[in-house]
Amino acid sequence: MKTQEPSGTDTNDPAVVDATMRAIVQTSYGSADELRLGEAPRPSIAADEVLVRVAGAGLDRGTWHLMAGLPYVVRLGFGLRRPKTSVPGLDLAGTVSAVGSAVTRFEVGDEVFGIGRGSFAEFAAAKESKLARMPSNLSFDRSAAVAVSGLTALQAVRDVARIAAGQRVLVIGASGGVGTFAVQLAKAHGAHVTGVCSAPKADLVRSLGADAVIDYRTEDLDARGVSYDAILDIGGNTPLGRLRRLLASSGTLVIVGGEEGGRWIGGVDRQLRAMAISPFVSQRLTSFISKESHADLDTLRELIEAGTLTVAVEQTFALDAAPEAMRRLERGEVRGKVVITPTEA
Ligand SMILES: NC(=O)c1ccc[n+]([C@@H]2O[C@H](COP(=O)([O-])OP(=O)(O)OC[C@H]3O[C@@H](n4cnc5c(N)ncnc54)[C@H](OP(=O)(O)O)[C@@H]3O)[C@@H](O)[C@H]2O)c1
Repeated sequence: MKTQEPSGTDTNDPAVVDATMRAIVQTSYGSADELRLGEAPRPSIAADEVLVRVAGAGLDRGTWHLMAGLPYVVRLGFGLRRPKTSVPGLDLAGTVSAVGSAVTRFEVGDEVFGIGRGSFAEFAAAKESKLARMPSNLSFDRSAAVAVSGLTALQAVRDVARIAAGQRVLVIGASGGVGTFAVQLAKAHGAHVTGVCSAPKADLVRSLGADAVIDYRTEDLDARGVSYDAILDIGGNTPLGRLRRLLASSGTLVIVGGEEGGRWIGGVDRQLRAMAISPFVSQRLTSFISKESHADLDTLRELIEAGTLTVAVEQTFALDAAPEAMRRLERGEVRGKVVITPTEA
């Protein structure tokens, strides 16, 4: 039988299903002005889910896209006229408050991190399969910044680019959520890493282990005449032709994302073109969508506990300051990650 919190906090108790919590609530797509501090019903959990008391909720570009409803294609899955889920937020870290009847890996009181539904709130539900035990050497707020960006970086470096020791790797978008993990992971694989970011964030990227840094605002990416074995294209919207000129003839380009595409399908056209061309050229040109895997969350935890990976959180915000945190992300001001803290740890 599963352990559950004393009566009054068990979400399967009808009295508690009616309980409310403090949450950021969003009723229409739009800017961060749509985010308001309010009350929402405390989530109920399915048999394979865990209720987490949220101590930290990380912000990421995916959460921004779901808030804005942009590119429009996201509305097909998340609500045509307004978001289907009124509480935003994916990344979380916190303490297990209740477990569903089929949950086997967690008990009430466990400290966990991963991906949930509606983490900008005091409580959030998460699938057991999208959670892992929290790193023993990390605070809740840093742990809350790991899952979405860390999983993407890990899978890009290890599985898609298959980066090997001695390779020359270019990480475009090295100072952002995904990039700060990707630089460290590429270094951990033994690569020589060049990070691309704006000048004010160059020190951060160097501190994460990058061997060289290019400021995309003042220097052409090809000015150094280097041919890269792998390019992780995470930020900006560098044309495909230019990326290919930077890549060795047998090199691999992984287009992870980019924010400067159109309002209908975003930057996806670049990714589709890359994959269409790839079979006909010597370079491997590819893209991917990250998997929310608890095995990979465990790998990230192990890398953090071993000291191989640090988590670049520049700032934490109280729950009511979530709109301000989102505006910093929107304006491209964040160095690494920002986190909101819905409850005291
Ligand atoms: N494929 C997937 O499964 C997956 C998963 C997660 C995220 N993503 C996507 O990956 C992208 C990055 O996410 P993120 O969370 O890392 O974003 P982020 O934190 O906002 O970071 C963006 C990075 O791009 C850099 N950048 C901005 N404009 C640039 C330009 N013109 N040229 C070169 N670099 C530029 C930024 O540098 P400065 O800040 O120094 O200017 C920063 O390093 C997003 O499009 C996101 O949707 C994809």
